[in-house]
Amino acid sequence: MSTAWKSRYAQRTKDIKSSTIRELLKITQKPEMISFAGGLPAPDVFPIDRFQEACKRVLELNGHQALQYGATEGYEPLREMIARHIARYGIKAHTENVLITSGSQQALDLIGKLFINAGDRVLVEAPTYLGALQAFNVYGAEYVCVPSDNDGLRTDLLEAPLRSGPKFMYVLPNFQNPGGTTLAEGRRHELVMLAERYGIPIIEDDPYGQLRYEGEHLTPLIVLDRENLRRDNGFTLGNVIYLSTFSKTLAPGIRLAWIVAPEDVISKLVLLKQGADLHTSTFNQYVAYEVARDGFLDQHVKLIRQVYRERRDAMLHALQEYFPHEVTWTHPKGGLFLWVTMPEGTDSEALFRAALAENVAFVAGDSFYANNGHEGSRHMRLNFSHSQPDQIREGIRRLSVAVKMQLRSNHVTQ
Ligand SMILES: Cc1ncc(COP(=O)(O)O)c(C=O)c1O
Repeated sequence: MSTAWKSRYAQRTKDIKSSTIRELLKITQKPEMISFAGGLPAPDVFPIDRFQEACKRVLELNGHQALQYGATEGYEPLREMIARHIARYGIKAHTENVLITSGSQQALDLIGKLFINAGDRVLVEAPTYLGALQAFNVYGAEYVCVPSDNDGLRTDLLEAPLRSGPKFMYVLPNFQNPGGTTLAEGRRHELVMLAERYGIPIIEDDPYGQLRYEGEHLTPLIVLDRENLRRDNGFTLGNVIYLSTFSKTLAPGIRLAWIVAPEDVISKLVLLKQGADLHTSTFNQYVAYEVARDGFLDQHVKLIRQVYRERRDAMLHALQEYFPHEVTWTHPKGGLFLWVTMPEGTDSEALFRAALAENVAFVAGDSFYANNGHEGSRHMRLNFSHSQPDQIREGIRRLSVAVKMQLRSNHVTQ
């Protein structure tokens, strides 16, 4: 007799839907398609030679350790390197405050596991990172959504939602996914001050902070937090947990990221991570350390900034050239995405189908809103890191055909 697996699925899986992005990535892999859909780094900047040398060196010098099980916290020299690296931005972390995870996606899952009881509310930006919603949904999260504008999260609208007592807030201050916007300096201070006033902790997700193409680096929330990792009777305090990753600066395929948190939080996360995967790949951690060391990471990030700045500019110029004036878009100062706003009444599904017919893809805005309204239906997220500038230009030209068609049908139906 065959088992009815479906009837045995746990309650927490009942609302899990297939990710629009994952589904999309399948369609967009046709060779004739120009895809602005995924959040993929440019494969042409992966430092393949450096990885090759690093793998060889690791196997020659540390093969026995690198192929063995390792500590759940992560490879100590890599954790030390991360602590030194983030100290430059004012983040005062000790090695014990750093936990290596298998991508920031795992960090989000572990954070959900640690903090969210079914029915707990999490304060998120509207729109926000789809992967965080997917991670938190499994633990039964509900959401309090606060809108953002070109300067990031609207801190002027934050007090009432904070007063309603969310478990924590999840924010992306730099070159937000999907909006491409950056939280303004003044709002950062206000956010941290309000969080402290209402006793609501912050999860600061910062995968793109180093990929800035113009303007000055802005202070991370974890640094503005007065209690940030202050030593007190041997314990560290702090109202902000900070996440970052090697996915956008080295390569996403190595699945390496880190959490910076007070030591007691790290200890709990370590126990949860043991249950999930024992530890992040030892070999990958040794290799990443070997790749990144001696200033290579900084040098490489400079190259990525140059390549992505050129691609962002190509997209901005093409939008200016091809798109009708009723359509607007953000001007990201860094990161991988920009966010397009169509006039009210746009049917994003019809637009998406029209775009696919023109062999160009994007992600419709709906996916990035926690409360499943139709707020997102007139938005598109466009990725500019993955395609070459000439493809970007051609892709935007194709997309403009679909956009103009959609605008014409908006006029007809109004
Ligand atoms: C905001 C944000 N957080 C986390 C992640 C996951 O990153 P990782 O590759 O480290 O799992 C991404 C990936 O695109 C992201 O955009």
